[in-house]
Amino acid sequence: MDKFVITGGNRLEGEIHTSGSKNSSLPALAAALLTDEPVTLTRVPKVRDIRTMERLLVDIGSELEVTGERVTVHTPVVVSPEAPYELVKTMRASSLVLGPLVARCGRARVSLPGGCGIGARPINLHLMALENLGAKINQEHGYIEAVAPDGLTGAEIHFDRITVTGTEDVLMAATLARGETVLNNAAREPEVTDLAAMLTRMGAKIEGAGTSTIRVQGVKKLHGIPEDDPHEIIPDRIEAGTFLIAAAITGGDVRVTGLNPEHVSALTDKMKQAGVTVDQPDATTLHVRGNGHLHAVDMTTEEYPGFATDLQAQYMALMTQADGIALIVETIFENRFMHAQELLRMGANIRLEGRQAIVAGRSRLQGAGVIASDLRASASLVLAALVAKGETVIDRVYHIDRGYEKIEMKLSHVGAKIQRVE
Ligand code: EPZ
Repeated sequence: MDKFVITGGNRLEGEIHTSGSKNSSLPALAAALLTDEPVTLTRVPKVRDIRTMERLLVDIGSELEVTGERVTVHTPVVVSPEAPYELVKTMRASSLVLGPLVARCGRARVSLPGGCGIGARPINLHLMALENLGAKINQEHGYIEAVAPDGLTGAEIHFDRITVTGTEDVLMAATLARGETVLNNAAREPEVTDLAAMLTRMGAKIEGAGTSTIRVQGVKKLHGIPEDDPHEIIPDRIEAGTFLIAAAITGGDVRVTGLNPEHVSALTDKMKQAGVTVDQPDATTLHVRGNGHLHAVDMTTEEYPGFATDLQAQYMALMTQADGIALIVETIFENRFMHAQELLRMGANIRLEGRQAIVAGRSRLQGAGVIASDLRASASLVLAALVAKGETVIDRVYHIDRGYEKIEMKLSHVGAKIQRVE
């Protein structure tokens, strides 16, 4: 199992480029199942979760051509409309094939995800919505089977709580349903808007993506997206946000390029309040300059456009280096403070009370042996290690490889002392 060995203390300087979004690429790859024509995407990041989704598509019957960041998916026939336990247990987003498969072939069988490091993560809202569209849902031997032999029919759907992949799953299904579907209390995340843009290019009729009410007029058939004019995936706002924090925590001077500043504004607002200078030299670049003096700023995670739960762990690392007390409240997942225990081992002063973390800074962090428990928790440990005195060894970095493309190379390039060892 790979580890990262990081020696803290270097100020980051230079330029880091943002990869395409993992959480946009996953539904985009699943959406390619909605048509029997080839669909080409670009700016698909080379991360482990994407490889898992590609494996799943091949099992289902897709032919894949991967050249660098460009992926063409062609599924002339669905051979097996199923997402097996082995894949779903390693990546919950596998359930994103449920909607497209039931819409295209009237049948899908997907393993129930089960528990996860950051919370329960059920898919009951995906199932409720598909039932509203006319699918019959059965649960057997840990699998969910959704059947709609005569196709799906548009309906009015209300999500009791906002779900990102739930909105995406049902949005995909609704594109091929008969008549109109209205999704109320839909997720407004940029990844949902990107998916709607892609589906529109495939011939879907969608209005309101990016707002909490999405209307879909079902069509009979969707078509492909040509190789010479592919759909470009949006920048990864969580990866970009992690780099912005890396610059700030080391008091560095870094330009993060190829991002969408609007997608990270909840974070940059907090960073500015904390005393970091953030400028926007052009439409896709943010320039971060830290002066080594940070003040504590409270933060509560929320659905987009609020502060992303996927940046909470990284923000906690930043707050260990701020003067004062920061209250961090996690409202999206019930168990997303695993990183706090490891940060404590590095010398942070954090008290957990249910869904709240009270971070008192500034702490003099020290290198230690720590364990990465999930994707974003691992990123938080990397950030803490960049400012810790001495050497930090992070075990189980396969978690970070799920969602960050060559993070050690990107960080080394701006001056971090980080090495991958086997
Ligand atoms: C997406 O997960 C992201 N994953 C997550 O990113 C992200 O943390 C999360 O949205 C929140 O922003 C992908 O896009 C692939 P949800 P998702 O459904 O869709 C509850 C990362 O680090 N809920 O929006 O699975 C659920 O338990 C990952 O890249 C139900 O109760 O999250 C949670 O409390 C991790 N029933 C809340 O809703 C349901 O049917 C939001 O979850 C679905 C969700």
